[in-house]
Amino acid sequence: MTNRLTVEIAGLKLANPTMLAAGILGMSGLTLKRVAKAGAGAVVTKSLGLKPRSGYSNPTVVQVEGGLINAMGLPNPGIKHFALEMRETKDIGVPVIVSIYAFTSHEFATVSREAVKAGADGLELNVSCPHAEKTGAEIGQDPRLVEEVVKEVRKNVEKPVFVKLTPNVGNIAEVAEAAERAGADGVTAINTVKAMAINIETARPILGNKVGGLSGLAIKPVAMRCVYEICEAVKIPVVGCGGINTWQDAVEFMEAGASAVQIGTAIATRGLEVFKQVTEGIEAFLEKKRFGSVKEIVGLSHRC
Ligand code: DHB
Repeated sequence: MTNRLTVEIAGLKLANPTMLAAGILGMSGLTLKRVAKAGAGAVVTKSLGLKPRSGYSNPTVVQVEGGLINAMGLPNPGIKHFALEMRETKDIGVPVIVSIYAFTSHEFATVSREAVKAGADGLELNVSCPHAEKTGAEIGQDPRLVEEVVKEVRKNVEKPVFVKLTPNVGNIAEVAEAAERAGADGVTAINTVKAMAINIETARPILGNKVGGLSGLAIKPVAMRCVYEICEAVKIPVVGCGGINTWQDAVEFMEAGASAVQIGTAIATRGLEVFKQVTEGIEAFLEKKRFGSVKEIVGLSHRC
């Protein structure tokens, strides 16, 4: 891997600007390692909470045109148990960012401390799950609550803190500003778009939870607009997420201002090779355009 692709985000060194998005293959140490081996520059775990949680009843995922709608219900073994999985990632060779959800700022701080104890290189606060009660977007839609949560986590951990934002708001830049004010090191934009699908034969919602979060290609232009608006408003790094399938998508996000990109749903269609494909494509693009570093394209579209 050449240095041309190296990026540093909030003190984390990535060999290339691709990251595994939260929620996909991030529930075990061994799968995280597989993703790192496939070429991801960093990995993010599935969201962990203080206590084990079984999640919603099936179906939890439905395929729609341009993407997937999922409502898993934040199933996870709890942060204490996940510490065992973290042991497996000791020699993973890329930063491991632990995604966290909680119901109060105090609980966010507790789970964050446990995650750092377990070996997290950074944290991503999930204040953007579009359908969970009393957590996720119920926090992330209110800039004051975001500020409160980030402040509390900031007081308790020294590792980089990213805040994953919801697009399901009127003004996403305002929420990013609240995160920045409270001491976040970066924001991830975006989490899934609140969505649903109905089976016309049964005339019933398909998902067990009825409503879920849309991810994949269908949300790319929404995510692009969010990244662009956030980059106009804050100085902290922005990690782009939402519909990245190809190297062209990654370049577009970086030109919109993203310092790195997360890939999730594309793994379902393209497999883990997507990380190498995107990275090699970015590198060829830089070569063709005579850029010395991928950092030079970050935010280029804001010139006009
Ligand atoms: C879940 C969590 C999310 O943050 C999201 O965007 C979609 C689904 C979940 O576990 O249900």
